Amino acid sequence: MVDFANRIDHVSISGIREVFEAAGPDAINLGIGQPDFDAPQHVHQAAVDAIESGVADNYTFNRGTDGLRAAIRSKHHRENDLDIEDGSVIATAGGSEALHLAIEAHVEPGDEVLIPDPGFVSYEALTHIAGGTPRSVPLRDDLCLDPGAVEEAITDETTAFIVNSPANPTGTVQSPDEMREFARIADDHDILCISDEVYEHIIYEGTHISPMAYTETDNVVVVHACSKSFAMTGWRLGWVVASPRRIEAMLKVHQYVQACASAPAQYAAEAALTGPQEPVTRMVETFERRRNILLDGLEELGLACPRPSGAFYAMPAVPEGWVEAVIDAGVIVVPGEAFGPGGAGHARISYAADEESIKDALEVMRSVTNSL
Ligand SMILES: Cc1ncc(COP(=O)(O)O)c(C=O)c1O
Repeated sequence: MVDFANRIDHVSISGIREVFEAAGPDAINLGIGQPDFDAPQHVHQAAVDAIESGVADNYTFNRGTDGLRAAIRSKHHRENDLDIEDGSVIATAGGSEALHLAIEAHVEPGDEVLIPDPGFVSYEALTHIAGGTPRSVPLRDDLCLDPGAVEEAITDETTAFIVNSPANPTGTVQSPDEMREFARIADDHDILCISDEVYEHIIYEGTHISPMAYTETDNVVVVHACSKSFAMTGWRLGWVVASPRRIEAMLKVHQYVQACASAPAQYAAEAALTGPQEPVTRMVETFERRRNILLDGLEELGLACPRPSGAFYAMPAVPEGWVEAVIDAGVIVVPGEAFGPGGAGHARISYAADEESIKDALEVMRSVTNSL
């Protein structure tokens, strides 16, 4: 019998899926990793127009359409004060493919990739798929990644480290000074900083500055997507930004695993990036209101929760048995250890759900907390 590749044996099915499977059909779902909004109407229309006119019927350039690449470059110019060359972008099938390209093009068997713990589940899996070895860097008590801890974890085998701000699963935001440090570490140690910025727009306090703004080498690669900012997870459209020589290397992977991002999604993404940004502002305001309701509720229950200033997750410390009891009582939350051993003793709560559901869920959490 043909056996499976060794590197796949190291990859486990996400613990998040197990939670969804365990929950009843009427459960309140605070386990979700996507906005509960529709993509803006002009985004839908741009895709419909592209489909009806026939322009979306063919392959695009491997890197993406001229229009989308220009829109991505002007987004980074406008919002991040970064001047991106035309040869510095590939449109991808979501942030997921962008992460895959960055890791696959740089990580060799035996290379180590430093990943935040707890951190987004793909980092560990994609490192294994590239034949590399993920090394956890535990987060600080405030659930941020400490540049000093990253620097200490570097060995001769380290090829890359991953920074994610605003972060999944913690909702925390790294400060500009920390981002500057991450860039310095990448430069000084000549290792790659993969900066996952897919939640960039969903931020309530603090300022997002990419490590790319500070690097003096080409050792920072930025991963981005329309998925979260524009409520477009189903469209599968992201991008990677890096120096032209790194893009050339990543293009070799992209060309053969994907050819090009889906053409209708590229037209939709171009409209998202160039069109009115009010839908994003409104969505973020709504998330902020919900975040405040959730944080106030958790505080009343006495559950300590480092302040989540971005994304749409909170990660309180919870007593033993709390996650299982809350799920049994009909509220889906994700156990912290699904995001790495450092997540133990915590729960990831998503507030991509309406205010009533969050309030009802808090009542369930109250009775569970009181009963433990
Ligand atoms: C931190 C982080 N990076 C990347 C992704 C992947 O995003 P996409 O849906 O665009 O592939 C996600 C999705 O949940 C995420 O949370």
